[in-house]
Amino acid sequence: MKKIIITIDGPAASGKEKIAKYISKKWKFKHLDSGLLYRRLALILHNEKIETKDINEIKKRIEKINNISFRRSKKLRTQEISQLASKIAIHQFVRQYVNDLQYDFVSKHKKIRGFVIDGRDIGSVVFKKANLKLYIEVNSEIRAKRRYKQLIDSGEKSIYRKILMDVKLRDKKDKMRENSPLIIPNGAHIINNNKSFKHTINQINKLMENF
Ligand code: CDP
Repeated sequence: MKKIIITIDGPAASGKEKIAKYISKKWKFKHLDSGLLYRRLALILHNEKIETKDINEIKKRIEKINNISFRRSKKLRTQEISQLASKIAIHQFVRQYVNDLQYDFVSKHKKIRGFVIDGRDIGSVVFKKANLKLYIEVNSEIRAKRRYKQLIDSGEKSIYRKILMDVKLRDKKDKMRENSPLIIPNGAHIINNNKSFKHTINQINKLMENF
């Protein structure tokens, strides 16, 4: 069975996850959030107080991992883990590790027809031959406001100005890095997610008509 792959890329807090969940539910596609895997690795390093400036230490620890959980958890969404995920994501061996997890995920779900995968490099590097590529665009103030609300709603203490700084800093790191920087993938459709979700899904529904 030929699998259908939809990729969603975009900057921090641009709503990739919400859009991916919408597609996953409506078309019964399996959703994979690649950012969650970077966050999982960051959490392991953080919990074990591994010096993340030391590339060899990160490498040694990652090589020892037998199994990594794909489960979401509130602990993964803190500001500290967001920053750390972005910091370790610059290394090619970290990226290769996460990419292999994504390939395994798709190949092990033999009976699944379609996958929707979100991240920073999914359409540009990981699944270059995807059937449909989306790139989500939202201005940074709106992204920070939405992320702030999300954190407050989940009971986390947070300050809007700090979130805005975090979003801008991560954008800079993700766009400027040498390995798999955040770009608009070749052939991607740009989705404007500045307005209401209804406005966003109207754009998605049109593009998904053939699936
Ligand atoms: O949810 P949000 O957009 O804030 O972040 P995320 O998708 O969970 O990703 C967390 C961090 O992981 C990002 O800031 C990136 O540095 C990194 N990441 C990446 O480099 N490549 C991906 N495909 C996904 C995430």
